[in-house]
Amino acid sequence: MSISWDELDNPTTTPEVKTPQPLKAQKAEPIDTASVAPPGETLASVAAEEEFDSPFKRITAKEKRIINCRYDVNQLVPFKYTWAWQKYLDGCANHWMPNEISMAADVAQWRDPMGLTDDERVIVKRSLGFFSTADSLVANNLVLAIYRHITNPECRQYLLRQSFEEALHTHSYQHIIESIGLDESEVFNMYREIPSISRKAEWALKHTKNLEDPNFKTGTPETDQTLLRNLIAFYVVLEGLFFYVGFTQILAMGRQNKMVGTSEQFQYILRDESMHVNFGIDVINQIKIENPHVWTEDFQKEIIGMITEGVDLEYAYAVDTMPRGVLGLNASMFHDYLRFIANRRLLQLGLPEQYDGVENPFPWMSEMMDLKKEKNFFETRVTEYQTGGALDWDEE
Ligand SMILES: [Fe+2]
Ligand SMILES: [Fe+2]
Repeated sequence: MSISWDELDNPTTTPEVKTPQPLKAQKAEPIDTASVAPPGETLASVAAEEEFDSPFKRITAKEKRIINCRYDVNQLVPFKYTWAWQKYLDGCANHWMPNEISMAADVAQWRDPMGLTDDERVIVKRSLGFFSTADSLVANNLVLAIYRHITNPECRQYLLRQSFEEALHTHSYQHIIESIGLDESEVFNMYREIPSISRKAEWALKHTKNLEDPNFKTGTPETDQTLLRNLIAFYVVLEGLFFYVGFTQILAMGRQNKMVGTSEQFQYILRDESMHVNFGIDVINQIKIENPHVWTEDFQKEIIGMITEGVDLEYAYAVDTMPRGVLGLNASMFHDYLRFIANRRLLQLGLPEQYDGVENPFPWMSEMMDLKKEKNFFETRVTEYQTGGALDWDEE
């Protein structure tokens, strides 16, 4: 017995063998069209296109929208947002697996009582405590909150790739924790028990609650702003600010030949995260272009407030994990670094810088991330990643 899509739409129909019916295009969630006429189209022209779910109507790129699209979400092409597809391809070209990286030197160093100082051990444990849950928060937000509301197939394709990369990152942290034999319950509970970590997690979680509600729908200025808040909280603040103290600490350790396997894992993760942030910012900016009415002055002020709040939370994490200077770093260097990154994020969103006269105290990090050399970084390196080669970043 076969079952047609019509029967799935109407569960009271008695199943019976039928002549195959044309497949209906799957459309995005119904929305309030009164508030979301696509740019350049009148509400009347939107209404005139009500046959959009006809199996015979072909989709054109012009009709695609990042959010609130009323057309088939199952057809990847025709492409409209080629940048999203390109990021998907770049993500695939950068594929890596955590267990390909040797952890032997880290195991020996961690077991050697003279291998690391107490302050260095705190940094390793706190980083794993924060990241081992943070990447799950990001993955859950992608799958349970964002994905449903992004109504564009090429962006969804990247979201699927990103979701897998977040799983790889959690895998990587667990691989490190297992390899060096840390107390798993201590590490995985840090996001509840260590205030500088739990405050960051709680801050992110409050922005995902609304969207996980099955009754939440975009399509009004208020709900579209709620989605934008979530995207900015996760892509710009969590992935774009909250990761950078831990990344810098662990990469500084690797530069001093300490915990080199852990540091290499973090380099691969940083490379992925840098692309996640840039994808998120492209999505946010495209939503702004398509829905200029949601980017109000008050809303912009609110977003600036979210970013400066993120700087304060991440600085508190820097102070907590570096009560003294360690590895040539100290908390006050991060005072400038976080402000430098925040200025960059604000500019990327078309918002004014909030911190005057801040310099980047860690220019070496730019080689490994998106701040200065992103274009050059991908143009010059991507080919060797496609061969599955190891990381080979030159230090400045
Ligand atoms: Fe991640
Ligand atoms: Fe990420």
